[in-house]
Amino acid sequence: MTGPNPDERYPLPGDNNLQFIKNTITKPNIIAGDYSYYYALNGESFEDQVLYHYEFIGTKLIIGKFCSIASETRFMMDGGNHRMDGSTFPFNIFGNGWEKFTPSIENLPIKGDTIIGNDVWIGRRATIMAGVQIGDGAIIGAEAVVAKNVEPYTIVGGNPAREIRKRFSTEIIQELLEIKWWDCDIEVINQYIGAIGSGNMDLLRKMRR
Ligand SMILES: CC(C)(COP(=O)(O)OP(=O)(O)OC[C@H]1O[C@@H](n2cnc3c(N)ncnc32)[C@H](O)[C@@H]1OP(=O)(O)O)[C@@H](O)C(=O)NCCC(=O)NCCS
Repeated sequence: MTGPNPDERYPLPGDNNLQFIKNTITKPNIIAGDYSYYYALNGESFEDQVLYHYEFIGTKLIIGKFCSIASETRFMMDGGNHRMDGSTFPFNIFGNGWEKFTPSIENLPIKGDTIIGNDVWIGRRATIMAGVQIGDGAIIGAEAVVAKNVEPYTIVGGNPAREIRKRFSTEIIQELLEIKWWDCDIEVINQYIGAIGSGNMDLLRKMRR
């Protein structure tokens, strides 16, 4: 048993919608780990869902391993934020002299890197706002607008996304965050894949390195 090749762009033969994100990325400001996938609606690339992500701003979108990102999820990055210390109208983009009023980066509300942990499931049509950090094992409900950080192994939903519940007890979450099964060699993951999928802690504890 080997599982899919993490270096394939489309790991399912004949299905160009399911894409391993890291093999589709062309921009240096997006980083994704092995096996994290996006399920496209019509063959669009994951990058099409990352909006206003201009390199000159300098922030990154970082996604861990084994994340499942459903169709139409959108990442609203920092370049979409107009200045807010006065008028929000972007005079400069119209030129004809108005380019003299181009705001500096300091004038823009930059929130920082957007960081998605490992084994995160993002439901359909969720929107992740700039600078948000989503912890390992979290679940983002369909249609959620995530404007604040999400703790590991927490389910959130709604607009603005609020906690629905924790997935496990505090103690189990702590253990899972120590085990970090996603960082094990793939041979070990293959060996324990049943326990990983079912949350069998007795077996998962044996993965501790
Ligand atoms: C978030 C989700 C995982 C919750 O599953 P669950 O734990 O079984 O939740 P329940 O159905 O028991 O609902 C629990 C509560 O969360 C609320 N809730 C569930 N999904 C929600 C969502 N997407 N947005 C807002 N609230 C949601 C319910 O209304 C309920 O609220 P209450 O406690 O006030 O009554 C699921 O509803 C969801 O959104 N899944 C994503 C599906 C998807 O997008 N798949 C795409 C293909 S991968």
